[in-house]
Amino acid sequence: MEWGMANRMAQLIQADGRCVFLPIDHGYFQGPTRKLEQPRKTLEPLLPYADAVFITRGVLRSSVDPDNAKPIILRVSGGVSMVGKDLAHEGLTTSIEEAIRLNVSAVGISIFVGSDYEHDSLLNLSKLVDEGEKYGIPVMAVTAVGKEMEKRDARYLALSSRIAAELGARVVKTYWCPDFEKVVRGCPVPVVMAGGPQVDTELEVFEFIHDGLSKGAVGVNLGRNIWQNDHPVAMVRAIRALIHENATPQEAQGVYDSVKNEGS
Ligand code: 5RP
Repeated sequence: MEWGMANRMAQLIQADGRCVFLPIDHGYFQGPTRKLEQPRKTLEPLLPYADAVFITRGVLRSSVDPDNAKPIILRVSGGVSMVGKDLAHEGLTTSIEEAIRLNVSAVGISIFVGSDYEHDSLLNLSKLVDEGEKYGIPVMAVTAVGKEMEKRDARYLALSSRIAAELGARVVKTYWCPDFEKVVRGCPVPVVMAGGPQVDTELEVFEFIHDGLSKGAVGVNLGRNIWQNDHPVAMVRAIRALIHENATPQEAQGVYDSVKNEGS
């Protein structure tokens, strides 16, 4: 691996081999998502606890100060909305020159395996990898399911994750699922887990992260289950403990409770 690529990968995946990516890119198709109506307000208290932030260029420019940032994973696919015809019909929205100008550590794109736009999204990934590799910028592929959340089983996610890696993604973001080892085993590049819509209890989140880590995931790219929680700082600190301090789910719950009781 060339120096630039290796250096950017090291900005993302920390020296312990783990990472906490914080995605706040949801607005690119969901608009002002609940608790992300004002991205700066959501992000500021969480920023110290993120290893990298997944974000579009518009929110990066408007809501993150360049002298107080973390490594950036720039969301560069989109062109769809919740009220449009098909969430899978994404294209590339941001050029590699813009990514370089913004000094990002990686670029991120969704793929939609099994959808009507499978072919387009996979070629978009391939083109982005070609561009990224020219300049030493890693690509994170997101195995997206659009509105079909029921697709998130090990067979489907293993298929999508492997295809993403085959096409050159340096990191794959997928959902945690039962039998997660099947997803990680078939994917020869680092895998990070997303959370999807907010689940009922904090402990459920800690348990699935812990399970995914024990099965080989290197960390998370977890959004709504952090910033839609009533105590987002407590949540992100508990998740950091799981990821960087090998805490158990119960220990993570202890971190959550104590930070929450401090008033965060
Ligand atoms: C949506 C994304 C998010 O980055 C990803 O889904 C992670 O967020 P969450 O944990 O809220 O699902 O790709 O645009």
